[in-house]
Amino acid sequence: MNDETMSVPEQAQATTEVILETCLECRTSYTPPADLAALQDSPWFIQRGLCSETCGERWLDSKLKDSGLPVRYRRMTLAGFDPYVSTLRDKLYRAWTWVRSNPGVGLFLSGAVGSGKTHLAAGAMREMCRRGLRTAYTHSFQFVAGCQAATSQGRALADIVCASLRDGVDVLVLDDLGAEITEDVGYHSIAFLIEICYARDINLIATSNLSLGQVYELCPRVGSRLAEMVDELQFPEADYRLQLAQRRERQRETVNGGRVN
Ligand SMILES: Nc1ncnc2c1ncn2[C@@H]1O[C@H](COP(=O)(O)OP(=O)(O)OP(=O)(O)O)[C@@H](O)[C@H]1O
Ligand SMILES: [Mg+2]
Ligand SMILES: [Zn+2]
Repeated sequence: MNDETMSVPEQAQATTEVILETCLECRTSYTPPADLAALQDSPWFIQRGLCSETCGERWLDSKLKDSGLPVRYRRMTLAGFDPYVSTLRDKLYRAWTWVRSNPGVGLFLSGAVGSGKTHLAAGAMREMCRRGLRTAYTHSFQFVAGCQAATSQGRALADIVCASLRDGVDVLVLDDLGAEITEDVGYHSIAFLIEICYARDINLIATSNLSLGQVYELCPRVGSRLAEMVDELQFPEADYRLQLAQRRERQRETVNGGRVN
């Protein structure tokens, strides 16, 4: 039936008929954008099939949890990163542009303890997830320990490494790469993991207290592949954990001072 063959009430009903969609998070119905152009202009959560920003953030949190990102790191966002010196402002800018540019080359965040490497990596991971990319997080030492435990039970290392990285992952955060790469299983498991990322075009964000040069010295197989796959961002900044502790101490002093007076 076309418009000409419809009665006036039927036409009115047809034009007001709305197709509803079910929010992936809260399962309530909402009105989606009318067409593709409107969808492309919509906020990110509508594009992901979610009814509101609140549902969007909840959905993101559960995606990141499924990606293996521990709860403390799920609170680390790019928006919550304090660029208190210009060198950190530059790195925050690099992280945002990296997220937005659909990168082919990953990031290697190297440097001092507590300087914000994992925070920036977790924040970038969150933004990649928001864009609909599939993310995974692994802590290097825990990954190697898991490989060691499984190989001691007779499982093949290649199978364990492959199984640890779900099919279709676009971005892997490899946190805290360290001296475990010099150990036998560490050497083979990390080298193989990185080779899989290389072969499957998985974008890598690695963090380490070591520089790329030091990784190369400890383990040329890993350092060589990383040199091709990532850009290095160095973090010589101060330990933010100590700054947070000092801030707490100052607050306590202020409160105590207030009581005495
Ligand atoms: N610029 C920053 N703005 C806000 N919070 C920060 C900043 N830098 C670090 N932090 C916070 O300080 C703590 C330590 O940061 P993070 O875990 O990123 O350090 P790291 O460089 O990964 O250290 P490590 O080498 O010990 O792993 C976290 O709670 C993090 O959220
Ligand atoms: Mg860290
Ligand atoms: Zn919802």
